Amino acid sequence: MIELAAVRKRFGRHAVLDGIDLQVPTGARLGIIGPAASGKSVLLKLVCGLLRPDAGQVMIDGTDITERSEEGLAATRARIGFLFQNYALFDFMTVGDNVAFPLARRGGLAEDEIARRVSARLRAVGLAGNEAKMPAELSGGMKKRVGIARATIAHPEIVIYDEPTAGLDPVTTSKVYDLLRADQETTGATVIAVSSDVEALCRFVDTVAFLYQGKIRYQGAAQTLTDAPDPVVRQFVRGDLEGPLEG
Ligand SMILES: Nc1ncnc2c1ncn2[C@@H]1O[C@H](COP(=O)(O)OP(=O)(O)O)[C@@H](O)[C@H]1O
Ligand SMILES: [Mg+2]
Repeated sequence: MIELAAVRKRFGRHAVLDGIDLQVPTGARLGIIGPAASGKSVLLKLVCGLLRPDAGQVMIDGTDITERSEEGLAATRARIGFLFQNYALFDFMTVGDNVAFPLARRGGLAEDEIARRVSARLRAVGLAGNEAKMPAELSGGMKKRVGIARATIAHPEIVIYDEPTAGLDPVTTSKVYDLLRADQETTGATVIAVSSDVEALCRFVDTVAFLYQGKIRYQGAAQTLTDAPDPVVRQFVRGDLEGPLEG
């Protein structure tokens, strides 16, 4: 279980997160949506311990990670797989080495076993046999899939996806979400995903949280998001120009 309680985070005078309470049960899939710069990526980084909150708690299975030392945080991060928004792959490494990275870092596996798992993971994301390619040779959709392979290869208990389909066409977007779903159903991992593709995200997650002006403005079943009574949520989800949503 991941739990955020009264979490606050500011940068200078800008209070990005202003009292976040959020619970993600083990094995659940939570989607986070919200306007640009509403703090979605910051929230994910707090969960990974890449940022520390100014106040509040970030609990993973009952341990408050905000109180952990750098060493303790490294142990926490080893349980988490993440796919970040912009700097997804290491440009200077082959696809195979990129995907192998979490296993190699963890240690304890022979090289041929790592190679076997990398090849299986690449097959699972539809990229069999691409080990020797460099990231620059791949399309955007292929890079995202390599990033997904890397985020999930070590079977982390928690997987965090920040805009896994940004810049992809709608068909590739659906394929990526099918892949994320199949993977989560196999591993039972706890997933938090941020996406601007609200519709596609909602077909993947169970619950969705809407982040707005530093708070979780709405949280509910992904299926019924479009029926949310809150006019701000409705405007955001429908993309209406007129309404109470402040830019
Ligand atoms: N390391 C940082 N230093 C200063 N400001 C930051 C930092 N990270 C994020 N911010 C600011 O916090 C706000 C939320 O950012 P972010 O979480 O990336 O938004 P988004 O919801 O689009 O993912 C933005 O105004 C951004 O400029
Ligand atoms: Mg972001």
